Amino acid sequence: MHKFLLCLLLAISLAARAQVNRIDLATAKFKTGDDVSWSTTSYNDKDWIKIKSNDNWDHQGFAGYDGFAWYRFHFRLNSSLKNASFWKDSLRIFLAKIDDADEIYLNGSLISKNGSFPSDKDGYITTWSRPREIHLSTNDPLLLWDKENLISVRVYDGGGLGGIFSAVPYINMMDLVDAVTMNVEFGKTREEGSAILIHNASGQLVRGTIKATIQTLLGSKMEVVDLLVAPVMIEPGMEQEFNMKNFPDSRIELSASFIEENTRKKIELKKVNPYILTPHPTSSPRINGAAVYGVRPGSPFLYKIAATGKKPLLYSAAGLPDGLTIENATGIIRGEIKTAGETKVLLSVKNDLGESKKELTIRCGSLIALTPPMGWNSWNCWGLSVSEEKLRSSAQALMDKGLADHGWNYMNIDDGWEDSVRGKNGEIVTNSKFPDMKGLGNWLHDRGLKFGIYSSPGTLTCGGYLGSYKHELQDATTYAGWGIDYLKYDWCSYGTVHQQEKDTSLASYMKPYMVMQKALRSQSRDIVYSLCQYGMRDVWKWGNLVDGNSWRTTGDIEDSWESLKGIGFAQNKMSPYAQPGRWNDPDMLIVGEVGWGPRLHPTRLTVDEQYTHISLWCLLSSPLLIGCDISRLDDFTLGLLTNDEMIEINQDPLGNQAKLVLTVGNTQVWAKELSDGSRALGLFNLGENYTGIAVPVKELKIKAPGFSLRDCWRQKELGYFTNYRAMVPPHGVVVLRMK
Ligand code: GLA
Repeated sequence: MHKFLLCLLLAISLAARAQVNRIDLATAKFKTGDDVSWSTTSYNDKDWIKIKSNDNWDHQGFAGYDGFAWYRFHFRLNSSLKNASFWKDSLRIFLAKIDDADEIYLNGSLISKNGSFPSDKDGYITTWSRPREIHLSTNDPLLLWDKENLISVRVYDGGGLGGIFSAVPYINMMDLVDAVTMNVEFGKTREEGSAILIHNASGQLVRGTIKATIQTLLGSKMEVVDLLVAPVMIEPGMEQEFNMKNFPDSRIELSASFIEENTRKKIELKKVNPYILTPHPTSSPRINGAAVYGVRPGSPFLYKIAATGKKPLLYSAAGLPDGLTIENATGIIRGEIKTAGETKVLLSVKNDLGESKKELTIRCGSLIALTPPMGWNSWNCWGLSVSEEKLRSSAQALMDKGLADHGWNYMNIDDGWEDSVRGKNGEIVTNSKFPDMKGLGNWLHDRGLKFGIYSSPGTLTCGGYLGSYKHELQDATTYAGWGIDYLKYDWCSYGTVHQQEKDTSLASYMKPYMVMQKALRSQSRDIVYSLCQYGMRDVWKWGNLVDGNSWRTTGDIEDSWESLKGIGFAQNKMSPYAQPGRWNDPDMLIVGEVGWGPRLHPTRLTVDEQYTHISLWCLLSSPLLIGCDISRLDDFTLGLLTNDEMIEINQDPLGNQAKLVLTVGNTQVWAKELSDGSRALGLFNLGENYTGIAVPVKELKIKAPGFSLRDCWRQKELGYFTNYRAMVPPHGVVVLRMK
């Protein structure tokens, strides 16, 4: 047969097979507005525009549109789709993610609802990051086999981007292959290798073929360094393991596919090994942590020198101001400074291998949180299920796993600690999960750690617990009595008060924060004040006026690339407002085991996305609040959180926030000026493939003939250059320190 004809026939047969397996809903008819008749099959949408269904409408000519809009997907449902499947009993409708809330109709009947609309009983609730997947019996009378069908989607966007996004929606059959899962485990050493595990959850013998490759970047090209093709045969409920090579010191991409024999349907997996860039701390002493510390005159002083090195370490501090003393065995400095002023103290940490010295500037004045607060907060892991026991276990792990030696020191309880009624004098009381707040505060302080808490200016918090409305002074006094060092103050349910007052002036947004600020400042201890009102009325422009030490600039973060990217890379306009004691807060960290409730899962961010997350937050001078169960921290996450050169960028005393210097295609370069005259650069690749990113010499206005570069994650000098280009992995980053 002619070669061309053969290719054509092959292409046609592949296309036919693809068509049989799945119906892609890549485009839809689209219209903004709202009319329930748009769900019906009789409605004629011929005048509607065509829109791609894998990207928000904001990127397709409807930038900034918030409110209702409809999508209509017309498709023919051939019974060949059903016949080509193994079980033939259940159909899947996958509609990717929908920003924010929606109703999904099939041939005019409602089949699914996600989140809720402002007019609904519960008011507006977004479910923007949740994938929409509906399963229907193939006998469902709503399905019109071998006929035209219609899926209409009523979407409400409450703000930001809107509409269907993240992947091409499709329809296919639930099949034998859906009962098969494939996972990979990367060993810690070369010898341990990597293992691909295929599990068969069906009651059926599963056969097929696995194909897998391991690739790594060599020079500027991805090269295959291991290959596997093998038959698969798994009994019901069993697992089969396939071994491949492992390169724990390099970044490797493992791609695997399994094709099920009966249906030729495929499952795929792509994973990067958790490669650790942070070098192990040396055994000789090294002093880490902030080089400047702020305290108010007369407030209790508590600062633990953060240092790594073989234990036992002997700590000392020369030139401490009057009123302060150091505990030599722990490095905890305590006491009280009576008068305002600045003191330079020489810290020293020794062991039998050597000594490390570092200057600490103690600034006694009105400003605190002179570098971004670093610590832990319970929300992203435990949500409302936080308890004293859970906090203590993370605090203990913060010390045992050495995080405290790198400067992590706040232990903050988020929502969920409050009782449902106040005490007889109107005082706030804890629920049974926190039996002894003062005892807990003492326990933390004895170890040189700080203690944080959460409340809201409304009657209720976001989690529905008691807020501080009309009890602000009383609550602040209670907190101070417990030894609280940090208050995160939300907005929830204050919205109702705000509406009732019918005042929309800027002052009306500042008011609740002013009230609590006065209450906090009347206490005899320093309480870091963290505002959490999601950036309303450009809080970064006035957060300092209510004496906020930090302010959330966005809504809540989640452990997805969309969330990380949407929040992290939108912080440029706030940059000029960051300064010592005043920090933009793009929300807490989402690495490690997170969950927002009693059940935790490993973060859904990829390895490279996690490097991006920590790098960006360090460059942005963001507060760093770990949001995972520290007692379950793995080596990779520990490496992410204990890189002293990255932490140094975050804690730089100048307090600048990185600015976006250059965007080219899917790449962005951010630069942060540091106190020693050097600059930290983040070369970010937001795209899907390895990309070369150059140091933007022109945009950085470099006057010298060349510059020296240091790789911050690897903590290695790279050399002296007149230009430099790094290969950056997909969704990943290279952080450089440039002199
Ligand atoms: C809001 C905040 C979260 C968390 C919860 C607690 O959603 O943004 O960070 O504090 O409230 O209910």
